[in-house]
Amino acid sequence: MLKSILLTLAILFATPQLVFAQGQSDPKEVKTCTNCHDTPAVLGVLHTAHGVKADTRTKIGEEGCQSCHGESTAHAGRPPEGQPRPKPAVVFSGPAASPVAERNKACSGCHQGGEVVHWAGSAHDTADVPCSACHASHKTQDPVLGKTTQAPICFTCHAEQRAAAVKPSHHPVTEGVMSCSDCHNPMGSTGPHLLRADTVNDTCYGCHDEKRGPFLWEHAPVTEDCTICHTPHGSVQPTLLKQRAPYLCENCHNSSAHSSQPLSGANLPGRPQAARQLVLHGCVNCHSEVHGSNHPSGIRMGR
Ligand code: HEC
Ligand code: HEC
Ligand code: HEC
Ligand code: HEC
Ligand code: HEC
Ligand code: HEC
Ligand code: HEC
Ligand code: HEC
Ligand code: HEC
Ligand code: HEC
Repeated sequence: MLKSILLTLAILFATPQLVFAQGQSDPKEVKTCTNCHDTPAVLGVLHTAHGVKADTRTKIGEEGCQSCHGESTAHAGRPPEGQPRPKPAVVFSGPAASPVAERNKACSGCHQGGEVVHWAGSAHDTADVPCSACHASHKTQDPVLGKTTQAPICFTCHAEQRAAAVKPSHHPVTEGVMSCSDCHNPMGSTGPHLLRADTVNDTCYGCHDEKRGPFLWEHAPVTEDCTICHTPHGSVQPTLLKQRAPYLCENCHNSSAHSSQPLSGANLPGRPQAARQLVLHGCVNCHSEVHGSNHPSGIRMGR
């Protein structure tokens, strides 16, 4: 008899679930965790979409903080005598962080559709970038979702784009008018370079529709790829050009053989006079409709 009472007591104290059943320390209760973790930095999560108990999809009502951190019974309980406190199943940051795949699985268990649908095999997935490198789940406002606060997060890893963004000509990203994610979906896409649209040009047309055409007189490189002449992130040349005209144009056109020969006079060493005139004028002074022309006589993109 005494033996069986002792056994029951032993089970009661040894099996945390039984104790939790009495409502003392249930790891499925948010309160259990916040008893110890009561700093504003942690409590912020309760004021985000994930903290809405009424939204059963968040599972915060059902599983508490374990909805993301996974099984944490042993962690929340009393650690065995002389032993360190066991970790929650999923730790997202710090030296004890779980492997990236496990951290990401904790998120993608709920997030597989919508914006995240092409995550598997995307550039960030294959480079082992965790969701939490960009998303701060405990902040009331996740900075990566804000136009003014997003780019600095990307810049921590993308130094080249950081440098480009401060060049004289750039898309107004650092100004907070637009964000990297207007052109890219960092969670994956069907287009190249994580672009939102299927091609570079379709991405650009999204905002620069007037360049789409169709034009009566098309300029072949424009229909092919805007980045033949432009860089999307920033340039020391005006209007995001990779090079200044005429050098840009001379990659493909031989201006020394330009047919407006009346301009030519005495030859400069190695260069006909015509070319020098053209350098001074700049090709787009005359060929102003460089993206294509709809004028009946715009064949040379002059109007
Ligand atoms: C009895 C107090 C206590 C309770 C209850 C508790 N924790 Fe902790 N937790 C700690 C301590 C102490 C640490 C720091 C451990 C360390 O540094 O090794 C910690 C660390 C953590 C960490 C970071 C782990 C790491 O190694 O960086 C996470 C995540 C965490 N707790 C989540 C939870 C969750 C989720 C719950 C509720 C299911 C919870 N905790 C309940 C005391 C508690
Ligand atoms: C238990 C399911 C669940 C888990 C796990 C989960 N989420 Fe969510 N998440 C949701 C729900 C539900 C919403 C609200 C969606 C809505 O309102 O359409 C949400 C919203 C979001 C949002 C949008 C927030 C906003 O303010 O608009 C982001 C970003 C997000 N989750 C990222 C994450 C990341 C990163 C993780 C992993 C650390 C994660 N989620 C884990 C269910 C989950
Ligand atoms: C490289 C940075 C980065 C990584 C890694 C990343 N995200 Fe995102 N995530 C973003 C950005 C930026 C947005 C906002 C996209 C936009 O402008 O529509 C976003 C949006 C979201 C949204 C939609 C929010 C909304 O408003 O509807 C969810 C959900 C989400 N992310 C979940 C995840 C999950 C889950 C993972 C990991 C599997 C992940 N993200 C990895 C940067 C990232
Ligand atoms: C939406 C998923 C999600 C939920 C829900 C969630 N966390 Fe976290 N937690 C994270 C992520 C991601 C991190 C990594 C730091 C960050 O992104 O803010 C983290 C970090 C932590 C840390 C450690 C801080 C560190 O730097 O290691 C503690 C402690 C913690 N969470 C406790 C909790 C507690 C307590 C709750 C419930 C009130 C909770 N978490 C709910 C996703 C979540
Ligand atoms: C934790 C570091 C990290 C953060 C933060 C990060 N990235 Fe990345 N990103 C990488 C790595 C690593 C790669 C793959 C290697 C590479 O192409 O540099 C990559 C690749 C890319 C690519 C190239 C894809 C391709 O196929 O060429 C784009 C675009 C990109 N990231 C955009 C973003 C944007 C936008 C953000 C912010 C919302 C961001 N990244 C935040 C690390 C990061
Ligand atoms: C106006 C649209 C646009 C914006 C805004 C934009 N990108 Fe891009 N990005 C592109 C295009 C187009 C490419 C691919 C072609 C190229 O780089 O020449 C690209 C390529 C990349 C690459 C891959 C680079 C490579 O050489 O493979 C990374 C990384 C990247 N972008 C990061 C970012 C980050 C970070 C931001 C925000 C600071 C950002 N992008 C904003 C359009 C954009
Ligand atoms: C989300 C909308 C958006 C997308 C997508 C977009 N742009 Fe832009 N673009 C802008 C805005 C906004 C400006 C600034 C207009 C201003 O300052 O008046 C701009 C300006 C420019 C300029 C002129 C820059 C200057 O210094 O005058 C060029 C060139 C340009 N974009 C090319 C591109 C190319 C190429 C792409 C595709 C890779 C692209 N844009 C995609 C919104 C966009
Ligand atoms: C053959 C080279 C070339 C290609 C390809 C090209 N552009 Fe341009 N783009 C230019 C030049 C040169 C200028 C400067 C025109 C000027 O100074 O009058 C310019 C200027 C611009 C401007 C700012 C001035 C304006 O006209 O609005 C935008 C926006 C622009 N380009 C978008 C695009 C888009 C979008 C594409 C792809 C569909 C594209 N460009 C392809 C050469 C090119
Ligand atoms: C990537 C190569 C490339 C670049 C760079 C380029 N073009 Fe072109 N351009 C072409 C091609 C290809 C054609 C079509 C030639 C044809 O149909 O015979 C063309 C056609 C033209 C035509 C019409 C020629 C005709 O016979 O109707 C003019 C004018 C022109 N380009 C001007 C320019 C100017 C000005 C620049 C610099 C801003 C420039 N191009 C940059 C490749 C380029
Ligand atoms: C002073 C005005 C002017 C300038 C500057 C100019 N062009 Fe032209 N370009 C013309 C005229 C006019 C034609 C048509 C000539 C003809 O039909 O015989 C033409 C024709 C062309 C053609 C059609 C092919 C050909 O040779 O007939 C190309 C390509 C061309 N220009 C490219 C350029 C490039 C590249 C530059 C800059 C290096 C440039 N142009 C500068 C006026 C100019």
